[in-house]
Amino acid sequence: MKKPENPFSINAYHGKDYFCNRENDLRTLHDHIENDRNVVLFGWRRMGKSALIHRFFEDLESSGEYETLYVDFLATHSLEEALKTFTTSVYDRFGSTKKGITSTIQNLLSSLGATLTFNPMSGTPEITLGIRRPERSEYTLNILGEFLRKRKKRVVLAIDEFQQISSYQKQNAEAVFRTWAQLFPDIRIIYCGSHRTMMAEMFSEKSRPFYHSAMLQTLDPIPLDNYVPFIQKHFESKKKKIEKELIEKIYSWARGQTYTVQLACNYLFSQYTIVKEENVETVFDNILMQYQAVFANFAKILTINQWNVLKSISKEEPLNNPLSRDFIDKYQLGATSTVSSAIKALVRQEMVIIDEGAYLVHDVILARWMARL
Ligand SMILES: Nc1ncnc2c1ncn2[C@@H]1O[C@H](COP(=O)(O)OP(=O)(O)OP(=O)(O)O)[C@@H](O)[C@H]1O
Ligand SMILES: [Mg+2]
Repeated sequence: MKKPENPFSINAYHGKDYFCNRENDLRTLHDHIENDRNVVLFGWRRMGKSALIHRFFEDLESSGEYETLYVDFLATHSLEEALKTFTTSVYDRFGSTKKGITSTIQNLLSSLGATLTFNPMSGTPEITLGIRRPERSEYTLNILGEFLRKRKKRVVLAIDEFQQISSYQKQNAEAVFRTWAQLFPDIRIIYCGSHRTMMAEMFSEKSRPFYHSAMLQTLDPIPLDNYVPFIQKHFESKKKKIEKELIEKIYSWARGQTYTVQLACNYLFSQYTIVKEENVETVFDNILMQYQAVFANFAKILTINQWNVLKSISKEEPLNNPLSRDFIDKYQLGATSTVSSAIKALVRQEMVIIDEGAYLVHDVILARWMARL
């Protein structure tokens, strides 16, 4: 793993040194996996779910007892695409050695009837599966399952953006994956997703195939007390300085959301040696300006009522009762029924979330931007 130029990562996992704490979450994950329990990891956006999985997998791999496989369903829109992504991840993880492709992977690909080609421009492998009939999907999954089960070490599989499977058309992908997980009880699975409500529903609604099939683990913000020393340590390692009070200011502006804390620290670290309060303000302005074009687009996507309600929630945060007369009158939002239906639509899309009874604009940077309008 290459050392990052800036210690505050905003895109990828760069190893333990650049990962703040999460000791309790790691302990819980270890406990579940070592006791044969599957896990569903969920939390609000950009809290650090995917990074935590990478951090956890580093531990598991270095223990020498496990092999880990990370599969990301983000770009998949059908069961076929999911299986292709799964197969490609297996190939990437277990297939290539310095000498070429291992024979076990060759066998796997041939039993799948898959063809492997290399992109002439990038040299990256591309796998074609040729699955057409639905029963073929189950066959493919079973071959992959057998392959993972036969590994000498125990395999821990993480499927990220798992909620995607509930939006595939035609096939009942949830039932297919659930049956698969039951067929291979030796494979430990961590299901993870960025849409918290969809994930929670998938695992907690009685009528759904995944009902009660995994331990629910929520990921909360990194406690401020853990974040302060982590941030100060990285500043000090380059003879830079940031006061605790300023970190508190960033943390509360970011609502403790890991990505936004990292982003502000990344900017401050790159621009200043001794961080002053006005520098923090400048960085907030810069961040909001960066997102200007993206956020302005929301005005086109949302109805005028939804836009007004969203803006009012940003200004009022944290809001306990969006249907109260005080709130509606203060922002001149019109009829209660109009506000109510706008909120329902915003909550369904997770633009607005209800966290411990408070209504919040999910994307904290959007909230800070709208609050200024
Ligand atoms: N404990 C941590 N210490 C330092 N940086 C972290 C930590 N956890 C996450 N990050 C960083 O924060 C950013 C967001 O993390 P990540 O992508 O894992 O969040 P996520 O919850 O998976 O987001 P999404 O909801 O979009 O899937 C990443 O740049 C990641 O490197
Ligand atoms: Mg993620």
